[in-house]
Amino acid sequence: MKIIQCSDYNELSLYVAQQFAQTIKSKPDCVLGFATGSTPIGAYKKLREMYDKGEIDFSKVTSFNLDEYYPIPPTDKNSYHYFMKENLFSHINLPEANINIPDGITTNPDDECKKYDERIERAGGIDLQLLGIGVNGHIGFNEPSASLESMTHKTSLTEQTVKSNARFFNSPEEVPRFALTMGIGSIMKAKRIILAASGENKMKAVEMLESGKINTMWPATVLNAHPNVTLVWCK
Ligand code: PGA
Repeated sequence: MKIIQCSDYNELSLYVAQQFAQTIKSKPDCVLGFATGSTPIGAYKKLREMYDKGEIDFSKVTSFNLDEYYPIPPTDKNSYHYFMKENLFSHINLPEANINIPDGITTNPDDECKKYDERIERAGGIDLQLLGIGVNGHIGFNEPSASLESMTHKTSLTEQTVKSNARFFNSPEEVPRFALTMGIGSIMKAKRIILAASGENKMKAVEMLESGKINTMWPATVLNAHPNVTLVWCK
């Protein structure tokens, strides 16, 4: 695992955006894996700025998001569909037909998840996957002790994640109790992964990653077994 320590959030965001921009420039029809949460917001802003300056073109890019709450309609402002539209998609020329996010209103979550993995496969796999990390070491909604082999699936949120994500909702009761998430197995198939961690509350997770060991109680540590991962972090 390559480790990059940044002095602040701005530097971290710039690093992430530059890596995505380089990937698009070297392979215009690349497949990108996007994440939600507060961590990637700065990087998405920088990607929008690069796009506005004509430095990058998303017209041939395909994207897959890591996860979506379940159940939640795409119009709900707390859905990850809405988040991606607000923070990135409505500002760039990534064709709507090329955007993939698990369907939060499907009546058949198992089938949706199976088809999601098939779509990733058909697109040729993810060239660059961005990940945030939970305070408890989760990636996507793969919570502690998640199966290391799981593909995209429906899962329950832990109480800690409900509490942590409640800051975006009016009350913890409104946080959906389930999610559709790429599994650790799907994430590990990405050709390159950047995991971004920002803030003091992520430092325990960063320490666990830096130890180089794999501990299923800290799901992100499985990335130590992936050949091309960059951990970029700041306090
Ligand atoms: P955050 O969430 O970027 O909002 O801290 C990351 C995560 O929980 O995966």
